[in-house]
Order: sequence, then structure tokens, then C-alpha cells
Amino acid sequence: MHVWNTIAAWRDRRRSLECQSVGFVPTMGGLHRGHESLVERCRTENGIAVVSIFVNPTQFNDPQDLSRYPRTLDRDLATLASLGVDDVLVPDAADLYPNGYRFHVEPGGGDSVLEGACRPGFLPGMLTIVLKLLNLVHADNAYFGEKDYQQLQLVTEMVTEFFIPTKIVACPTVREEAGLAMSTRNQLLSTQGRDRSPHLFQILQSTSDPAEARTALEAAGFAVDYVEERWGRRLAAVFLDGVRLIDNVPIASREGAA
Ligand code: PAF
Repeated sequence: MHVWNTIAAWRDRRRSLECQSVGFVPTMGGLHRGHESLVERCRTENGIAVVSIFVNPTQFNDPQDLSRYPRTLDRDLATLASLGVDDVLVPDAADLYPNGYRFHVEPGGGDSVLEGACRPGFLPGMLTIVLKLLNLVHADNAYFGEKDYQQLQLVTEMVTEFFIPTKIVACPTVREEAGLAMSTRNQLLSTQGRDRSPHLFQILQSTSDPAEARTALEAAGFAVDYVEERWGRRLAAVFLDGVRLIDNVPIASREGAA
């Protein structure tokens, strides 16, 4: 496995890969089984599997969230090596943002709902880094989890809008046995928070509308940012123990389960 710390070195390597299909998984590290499932699929479906690890400062609206975001580079690299990844990009911010944040992507209307409404700057920061990484990697396929459903929707639209020749592949959310969606932030939960966290998924599935879901979540001890229905999904963001969790379920399967 090659680890590239500079964009220049990665570009040399990329030029040598012209004839092989390239798959890409962008991450911010803190890898868990959800990431591993993206990487495994990427590995299976492409000749070369590329992963990036970069904790992107422009998508954090809360400096405390950025500073305590888990950074586990050595463990992440060992995981990626065991999964047969060919190339890992670990660039620094100065290399990725040579002009600071002068040029960036604004998603328009999408910025004012869900994550965009609750985390000012998150969507432009996320879209900007994804655009930069897609332009650097020139992948045939890029893999994104359905847990971050708004991110997946907007990245798919952006790729179409800017004629980027990479197919965005949506991958199902991976859950712990009790139902909690895998997330890097889960490791910040206290023992008590971990015990309570599966209620998020259970409540999203078992209630009949967003208002009822909100009431049930608040009764279960979650501070609710939003519960809304879009794209045939019920989506929620909550705080538990000061840790922000997001999740979503397909509305059809929720009705079947109720
Ligand atoms: O989902 C994430 O981990 C990040 O938003 C991404 C896509 C790697 C961009 O920084």
C-alpha cells in the first residue's frame, strides 16, 4: 500500500494508472465498519482502490467538534492495508487549500435545510473538498454511505452539474447489532449514551410521522436538531451526551415495520 502525503507525489502516481479502473472512498479517518464496507466494495469493483484521509476543517462549524474529532491515523492505515487498499492520500490543509478558502462550492437552496440549516458552512465545506478530491483522484467510481443522506444527494447532483466523470455509488448504512448507525463520533459517547443511542433508529422506524418521532426522541433523552421527511426518507439529527448523531430510514420500510 502506498501512502501519499503530497498532491504532487499522488499526481505522478495517478498518471501511471491510466489503464486501470480506479475506485475511491473519501474519509476523514476514524475508520469503523461502515467505512470498511465502502472500502470492501470499492476493492471488489475496481482495479485500483484509493482512500483519502483528511479531517476537512472547512466543513466544521463548531471548533470544538473539529478539535475533538477522533484522529486514529496509524490504526486507520493498518485497517486499510488489511483490506487490500492500493493507495491512501493523506494530504495536509495547505496542500489542499493553497488559496485558503477563496474558491468554494455553494449548493444554493440545498444549503438551507437539514444539515445546511443546522450546521452553517458544513455543506459548502463538504462539497468543496469532495470536488477537489474527485478532481485529484479521477476515479471511475466513488463510494458514499447512505447514513449521510443529504451529503450523498448533493454530491450526486454536483457531479452531474459539473460534468465530473465519476459515478457516485450509494452504499447502505452499516449498523451495530442494536441498530445504531456506525459513525466516527459514536466513540465519543459515554457508556450511558451508548446504551440509549439505539433508540434513535428504533424511534425513527416505529413512529408514524416526524412530529411523533420528535416527541418520542425528546422523551428518550435526545436533544433534537430536526426530524424531516425528504427523498422518501425520514431523516433526523439529534444530540446525545453532547454528541451529534444523524440517521435516516426509508419511509416504506418504516411503514412495514410499524
Ligand atoms: O463523510 C465524510 O466523512 C466527509 O464529509 C467527506 C465526504 C470525507 C468529506 O470530507
